[in-house]
Amino acid sequence: MAAAPTADLALIGLAVMGKNLILNMNDHGFTVCAYNRTVSKVEEFLANEAKGTNIIGATSLADMVSKLKRPRRVMLLVKAGSAVDGFINQLVPLIEPGDIIIDGGNSDFNDSTRRCKELAAKGFLYVGTGVSGGEDGARYGPSLMPGGNPEAWPHIKDIFQSISAKSDGEPCCDWVGAEGAGHFVKMVHNGIEYGDMQLISEAYHLLKSVCGLSNDEISSVFEQWNNGELESFLIEISRDILKFRDTDNVHLVDKILDSASQKGTGKWTGKTGLDMGIPITLIVEAVFARTLSSFKSERVTASKLLKGPSPQPESGVSNPLEHHAGLIKAIKEALYASKIISYAQGFMLMRATSQEYGWTLNMGGISLMWRGGCIIRSVFLGKIKQAFDSNPDLSNLLVDDFFNAEVARCQMSWREVCCKGITNGIPMPAFSSALAFYDGYRCDKLPANLLQAQRDYFGAHTYELLDSPGTHHHTNWTGHGGTTSASTYNV
Ligand code: 6PG
Repeated sequence: MAAAPTADLALIGLAVMGKNLILNMNDHGFTVCAYNRTVSKVEEFLANEAKGTNIIGATSLADMVSKLKRPRRVMLLVKAGSAVDGFINQLVPLIEPGDIIIDGGNSDFNDSTRRCKELAAKGFLYVGTGVSGGEDGARYGPSLMPGGNPEAWPHIKDIFQSISAKSDGEPCCDWVGAEGAGHFVKMVHNGIEYGDMQLISEAYHLLKSVCGLSNDEISSVFEQWNNGELESFLIEISRDILKFRDTDNVHLVDKILDSASQKGTGKWTGKTGLDMGIPITLIVEAVFARTLSSFKSERVTASKLLKGPSPQPESGVSNPLEHHAGLIKAIKEALYASKIISYAQGFMLMRATSQEYGWTLNMGGISLMWRGGCIIRSVFLGKIKQAFDSNPDLSNLLVDDFFNAEVARCQMSWREVCCKGITNGIPMPAFSSALAFYDGYRCDKLPANLLQAQRDYFGAHTYELLDSPGTHHHTNWTGHGGTTSASTYNV
């Protein structure tokens, strides 16, 4: 007689994230069945990291399914894209209606929505969950952002909330919403991650090239910043990276090629912003900053041909930290103000997309999910949570009293730093696009009247008048154009 199934969950994909999640679940008293397409990896895992634990292994998908308690919970930690569909197709004939398939990779939320619908039609419950926090997070407490078929949530809630990070005793995991909502929120998290990383990198560039600080000095500046409103995982690791020395005692950061890669979630966020008509300018600039960095050889050629200021830190300064204390403080405030804009834009995108798809995303809940465990975890997210707790319908973070006052407090420094960067020829796409957004958002009269007139002049696209919005007019600007207007439509 076959042994009674004992596993609470099966996890497919024994790369670094998969293994660490399994070990984390095991620590919390769950029995996990590990499986991998290359089955030898299962044996290796059981003989090494999983030795002495309650983790069990499977030799095939059928074997794995036979070891699962009902409803069966199968989690995929495989490469996003066709591998996910491939495993789903193999699993479907082996499981029963009511069983749950969870995708924990960085999947495109549109794919998750499709999979959720396709599987629901067959009676299976699909969950697409964001998992953030890298290797350590997966092992000791990630931020988890599950969404999909809501009927699955009661069956996975205990496991998910037990293994997730905690912030003030609350799990950094809650149900996000239907269909692809979980992966959508993870995608926006990643877009914001790109923005935060770019902002810190621009601050580093200024501190290095304008203030003339050494790596160790910049590390000490980040150490200080990490004790205030900028306290965050990304500032903390930047502090550590800057003081890290290679085996030859040279700072490793100075040896690393200045060409950044990306796996695509930032680009997806940008595309979604364009599709939804939400100006997430800072995230898009952060994606393009990586793209521009990858043109290394062209940039090297251009650096010899294209004229412009090249920053030279003042010579003869014996203590640059003290000498530039004012500018360093201004850079900190510029970073903080820009970060507020970035999050305001990210939350605008979530609000609009939630309305479009009827997901009713809970912004305060999302802030809590990001408050701990994930790559963008920070003290700052606690403030965002407070803003949405006191007003769940907040239209924009910038109009919350706290954030409004903070941007006002940092504003002059922010402007000064942008000018400093521009006059010194330091590219600051994130700092400066954040400021441009702020000035655009707070401007009651933009030059779009001229733009609209231009559209009507050359294409009869019509315009509305200040005193009668909603009514479209066309003018024969040249005297020889017709009076017929082009059809009006908005993308
Ligand atoms: C996380 C991260 C992670 C992401 C990497 C690499 O939340 O743990 O966002 O999911 O894949 O940070 O992303 P890029 O290669 O796009 O920089």
